[in-house]
Amino acid sequence: MTTLQVVLIVGFLKIFNIEKAESRTSNKLVSEKHKLHYHYETFNYTTLAFTHAESPTWDPDLNTLYWVDVLNQNVHALEYTTKQHRLKHIGKGEVNIVLPIANSMRLLIGVQSSVYLLDWDEPRPSSLRFMAALDLGSPDNILNEGKADVKGRFWAGTKGPQHGDTVLPDQAALYSLEQPHFEPKVQLKPVSISNGIVWSLNNSILYYIDSATRTIDAFDFDARKGRISKRRTILDISKYNFMKTTPEPIPDGMTIDRDGCLWVALMFGGAVIRVDPNQRKVVAKISLPVSRVTSVVWVGDALEELVVTTSRRNMDAKELEREPYSGNLFILNKLGTGGVPSYKLIFNDSDIY
Ligand SMILES: *[C@@H]1O[C@H](CO)[C@@H](O)[C@H](O)[C@H]1NC(C)=O
Ligand SMILES: *[C@@H]1O[C@H](CO)[C@@H](O)[C@H](O)[C@H]1NC(C)=O
Ligand SMILES: *[C@@H]1O[C@H](CO)[C@@H](O)[C@H](O)[C@H]1NC(C)=O
Repeated sequence: MTTLQVVLIVGFLKIFNIEKAESRTSNKLVSEKHKLHYHYETFNYTTLAFTHAESPTWDPDLNTLYWVDVLNQNVHALEYTTKQHRLKHIGKGEVNIVLPIANSMRLLIGVQSSVYLLDWDEPRPSSLRFMAALDLGSPDNILNEGKADVKGRFWAGTKGPQHGDTVLPDQAALYSLEQPHFEPKVQLKPVSISNGIVWSLNNSILYYIDSATRTIDAFDFDARKGRISKRRTILDISKYNFMKTTPEPIPDGMTIDRDGCLWVALMFGGAVIRVDPNQRKVVAKISLPVSRVTSVVWVGDALEELVVTTSRRNMDAKELEREPYSGNLFILNKLGTGGVPSYKLIFNDSDIY
């Protein structure tokens, strides 16, 4: 474990505009600029820039934000009040997921296409305990997104082999895993790039993103059986003109707010959008000064700050000069809503496993 001496710190503070999107049909957008008192802070590290920050997750019991830096293979923890930062280098391949476990001192992490328990206080390499392997027979696949459901099961989605910004299509799957054996159960196959994964406030719907489809989809969710059915598309972002960028934006990480709306990171799109899944439309778009926006999570006592992770993966020097904050975390405030507590993994024996 490395404890960096005070790292960073609020890089800058700026008033930005939220564009309130009003659309009558799904592909027409009248966007009005409202000068709301919305601002963001960004922070970075003088000694360490994140290459590809992902999987932000909030543990309200420890008042701690976790995230991973995928390519540098690090898990980060930021105690939110003191801003004490710790990082754990894993060094066994891409680290894509970090997830708190209920009543446990350990964390679940995803490394390449495997699931491990991470014991923060153990020195490497004894800090990892193997739990499960996904997509066996596809060694270049990666565990890309993972969340816990209301019953504490782990929902884990993979993606196929990636070269540059391109991912081989239809090589991956979505699984659920639960105690005591965490045997992967295929829920959806094939998929290209598993993302999103969040439940409606009443847990009757799973919202899911296969980034390659550029859509946000929904399934009926049976919480008791841990089953999904009846896939339908609730939003196709390729139909929105205001999201035309090169490369084309794809939906990435996603969370839900207390009003039941979805907040979706737009990779390559330089924005986070708020989507009303019942009306099937974009209701707001927040632009950031970086294109590669990877994921979102609500943090803080009131869950009213939205942390946005971003990336500088595959950017050349010119692009980085244009978007120097790429890879930073952003904290958005005063968005007029907030989150709901997310679920933790349930694993009774995690501390003695
Ligand atoms: C970190 O923030 C400072 C502003 O406080 C900025 O000048 C610098 O470019 C940032 N570094 C990175 C790697 O984003
Ligand atoms: C986990 O603990 C709960 C409550 O103590 C218990 O009801 C449940 O059966 C346990 N599950 C397993 C798989 O051990
Ligand atoms: C649960 O929430 C979804 C999404 O808001 C809604 O469509 C559905 O009608 C709700 N189900 C019940 C039983 O209230």
